[in-house]
Amino acid sequence: MSFANVLWEVSEGVATLTLNRPKQLNALDAATLAEIGQALDLARAQPEDVRALIVTGAGEKAFVAGADIAAMSRLGPGEAREFASLGHRTMAALEALPIVTIAAVNGFALGGGCELAMACDLVYASEKARFGQPEVNLGLVPGWGGTQRLTRRVGPMRAKEMACSGELYDAAQARAMGLVLEVLPPEALLEHARAKARVIASRGPRAVALVKRLVQQGADLPLPAALDLERTSFAGLFGSPEATEGMAAFLEKRPAKFPGRG
Ligand code: CAA
Repeated sequence: MSFANVLWEVSEGVATLTLNRPKQLNALDAATLAEIGQALDLARAQPEDVRALIVTGAGEKAFVAGADIAAMSRLGPGEAREFASLGHRTMAALEALPIVTIAAVNGFALGGGCELAMACDLVYASEKARFGQPEVNLGLVPGWGGTQRLTRRVGPMRAKEMACSGELYDAAQARAMGLVLEVLPPEALLEHARAKARVIASRGPRAVALVKRLVQQGADLPLPAALDLERTSFAGLFGSPEATEGMAAFLEKRPAKFPGRG
């Protein structure tokens, strides 16, 4: 499948989705959001080939500079609601993928770009990255989950500071507040993300998918219910081809050959 606004590449079990509108600093309009959705469908349809996903931006300057302001400026309230819903569906589809997703933030991650990064499981950033929720500068609020995912990542006070001031934060600040795991020199960012993705892609795919789901679902549950979910998931893996192979490989002192997710 070919796309107009994103690039899609799969290699060694890792897919890379590159937002590719560098003249607009990779801003997201409805067509680009739809293409992201189609790419995520591709990832789902190829569980053997795609075992981790990297999201990044084309060009030196931006990961994603936000929702496309030119396109947004023409919307009325009804259309804006549809646009917000499309963005929410896209972020939710990313979160629901049964593989680990990694944002490699190479430059500006603003507004919808910061929201896109936060919908990924892991976030690595280049020293050049800048994060922010600057919607208040436009007389708007974040529209694709920013107020909520940001609060869950960095806490309510920092979320209010960031989204009420509209100010930008550099990569070191973003790391200190928990938005970013590691900060890399620009030229090392993508390879760092790919190396981490390859490690994850080599692990038991069903177990990886379950860990992701348990962490996500557990966060919204009382602790006893979350622990119960973990116990049930742990037990449910016994007798599965993946766990049988994984434990046998350890005991036979050889690398595991995991079957597909099934
Ligand atoms: N939408 C559409 N076009 C954008 C854009 C966006 N979000 N961000 C940048 N561009 C375009 C600019 O209009 C400019 O286009 P032209 O060359 O045709 O004039 C081009 O990208 C380069 O941008 P600048 O000249 O502004 O570059 P700069 O280096 O001076 O500044 C920047 C870079 C600080 C990122 C600045 O472009 C900027 O502030 N962009 C807007 C960021 C923003 O407000 N994002 C939030 C959008 S709202 C949102 O995302 C809502 C939501 O939650 C869903």
